[in-house]
Amino acid sequence: LSDGPLKGLKALVTSGPTYEAIDPVRFIGNRSSGKQGHAIALALAAAGAEVTLVAGPTALADPTGCKTVRIESAAEMLAAVQKALPADIFVAAAAVADWRPAAEAAQKMKKRDGGEPPRIDLATNPDILATIAAPGPKRPRLVIGFAAETEKVVEYATAKRQKKNSDWILANDVSAETGTFGGSDNKVHLITADGAEEWPRLAKTDLAQRLVARIAATLKDKSK
Ligand code: PMT
Repeated sequence: LSDGPLKGLKALVTSGPTYEAIDPVRFIGNRSSGKQGHAIALALAAAGAEVTLVAGPTALADPTGCKTVRIESAAEMLAAVQKALPADIFVAAAAVADWRPAAEAAQKMKKRDGGEPPRIDLATNPDILATIAAPGPKRPRLVIGFAAETEKVVEYATAKRQKKNSDWILANDVSAETGTFGGSDNKVHLITADGAEEWPRLAKTDLAQRLVARIAATLKDKSK
């Protein structure tokens, strides 16, 4: 572990998409690459924190200096996150599927000649950020979520901060033309109890470093 400003602190980060199984070969997923979450895990480790990264299926290598736990579904992500607690810092960068197929077919679903396509009933997934941010003895000191929006970005993200009891929310515009999902850079508004602060467009790695610098400054302030 490096001798940085977060030495002695534990950080827990989620990253990447989740896959929700329809049958043994098909799933519902999303376009998250894990670039943003992995960059945050790496930057926290570089600042001296002891980092556990809970990662959905991505093509990225496990970041150096972190303990990486690979999972597929939202339910598995929640279980892995809970197992990794306690933590001082929690960053929820994963694009968790809000819904999963209500039942996973045991065998590959077959096409029937002239038959109707199957209907897939959905069930609601647990909200990992809201679960971890709920008041209680295990709540991390600093809980940071993201908000992926395609309109009214600051307004919706501000509402999400309150609803999920997150200390901060990084609000990003994920409209197709922004390339936020999968791309190498990102533009966010940092939403805290004090309001919204617009950050410039940055490489995801630079955004991660800026976030970690803010985390370090805030925790230092709090512990005074
Ligand atoms: O992976 P990349 O390609 O680098 O892209 C990065 C990103 C766009 C995925 C990332 O920056 C981002 O916005 N992550 C959050 C995506 C998301 O699920 O946003 P949301 O607005 O639906 O959810 C709000 C927050 O609740 C997020 O912190 C999310 O992790 C969390 N959540 C959502 C649903 C759920 N069931 N459980 C959760 O914990």
